[in-house]
Amino acid sequence: MSNDTVTITDNATGKSADLPRIQGSIGRPTVDVRKLAGSTDLFTYDPGFAATASCKSSITYIDGDQGILLHRGYSIEDLAANSNYLEVCHLLLDGELPNQDEFNEFESIIKNHTMVHENIHRFMSGFRYDAHPMAMLSATVAALASFYHDSIDINDEEHRKITAHRLIAKMPTMASYCFKHMRGQPFMSPKNNLSYSENFLHLMFAVPAGDYVPSPTAVRALETILILHADHEQNASTSTVRLAGSSGANPFASIAAGIACLWGPAHGGANEAVMNMLDDIMDTGATIESTIARAKDKSDPFRLMGFGHRVYKNYDPRAACIQKVCHDLLDELGGDQPLFQLARELEEAVLADDYFKERKLFPNVDFYSGIVLRALNIPMSMFTVMFAMSRTVGWIAHWQEMHNDPEFRIGRPQQIYTGETHRPYPKK
Ligand code: SDX
Repeated sequence: MSNDTVTITDNATGKSADLPRIQGSIGRPTVDVRKLAGSTDLFTYDPGFAATASCKSSITYIDGDQGILLHRGYSIEDLAANSNYLEVCHLLLDGELPNQDEFNEFESIIKNHTMVHENIHRFMSGFRYDAHPMAMLSATVAALASFYHDSIDINDEEHRKITAHRLIAKMPTMASYCFKHMRGQPFMSPKNNLSYSENFLHLMFAVPAGDYVPSPTAVRALETILILHADHEQNASTSTVRLAGSSGANPFASIAAGIACLWGPAHGGANEAVMNMLDDIMDTGATIESTIARAKDKSDPFRLMGFGHRVYKNYDPRAACIQKVCHDLLDELGGDQPLFQLARELEEAVLADDYFKERKLFPNVDFYSGIVLRALNIPMSMFTVMFAMSRTVGWIAHWQEMHNDPEFRIGRPQQIYTGETHRPYPKK
């Protein structure tokens, strides 16, 4: 019996297994169950994988009880206050913050990939006028694979690198095209003399008849939103990218699968759902008390959007960062002060309520991000597109880490079968 093993005994059979006890650099110790079935015939059952590690990773660490989020060891608070999105991209992809020369080189590489093939314009123009931008984005990212047959060999390090650069560079361009298509405005060309966020706001709001020059506060708010959504361990969409990529699928197909997963209201669609919830409260005259009562009512499927988290059982550190950005932005640009005030009152009431305290339900990153995006004049249907644009670097970093992992193998979960046992086909 040693301290670096865990013994599991099946009392029904008396069979037992001494399994490796794995400890990462920080975080919860984990038992490696790969040899459990061989020694005991036992599989493990964990719907939603709430207690199961799917991989080893050095990209991001979350301590949900302490409300800690680290990217390659740097706290999200430090990065949100001092960094910029492309610097965080370099950190997530390469593991280190770039020096000035490395940053300038990385920024120059990204800027050389911001345009898309002219046929992408025609492809995106083919969607119905009211197509949801997430439908357009997921389809278009998957279609990119058809333009880069010469560089999607997943076993080629250089192909993996240029694909990462292409996706980070082209996401703002394609995201803005979703918006322009909805508005019936011409697609704008990227401007490589602008920063990443300035260029995105130009792509979104400039028109051939006139430029768009965003305020520094708006640019900083967008940079912060992008930094805060860049990566988050093995969330549903990142796990989707890993699982899709584990079959050898090309990176565009794997990232498109992640975009599809992020669309769900329980995941990336939550910021849109938060705004719908707040708008409904304003429009229907519902009170905070009646809204909270509905969230507690088990017979009512209503949940408080923007609250709760699978991992954070304390305050989501990103929510605190966004609340400050929200405050500064609305102070300068105006925008939905009543909605922001309602959000703050709702947050205050929830944090004081025992039902939510007992379940450790705190505001998550989505609770305030929608108010910031609305203050930036970004329509609600684009909110999850913004999340996807930011999370692209996290998805790629995990996809690359998986392909460099010596323990990597195709993902294929087991199940507990509860259906009919074998029965003969009835004679006619
Ligand atoms: C993101 O994984 C990530 O990292 C995701 C993300 C990222 O950056 O990638 O952080 C982004 O997805 C943030 C979460 C955004 N989603 C929402 O805001 C939607 C609202 N939240 C819930 O749907 C829910 O909290 C989840 C999905 C986020 C988490 O669900 P869990 O961990 O499975 O929680 P649960 O269903 O086990 O709930 C535990 C209890 C239950 O009550 P009891 O059965 O114990 O009585 O808490 C209740 C739930 O009913 N509960 C809520 C609630 N969330 C959980 N009750 C009211 N409102 C809520 N929002």
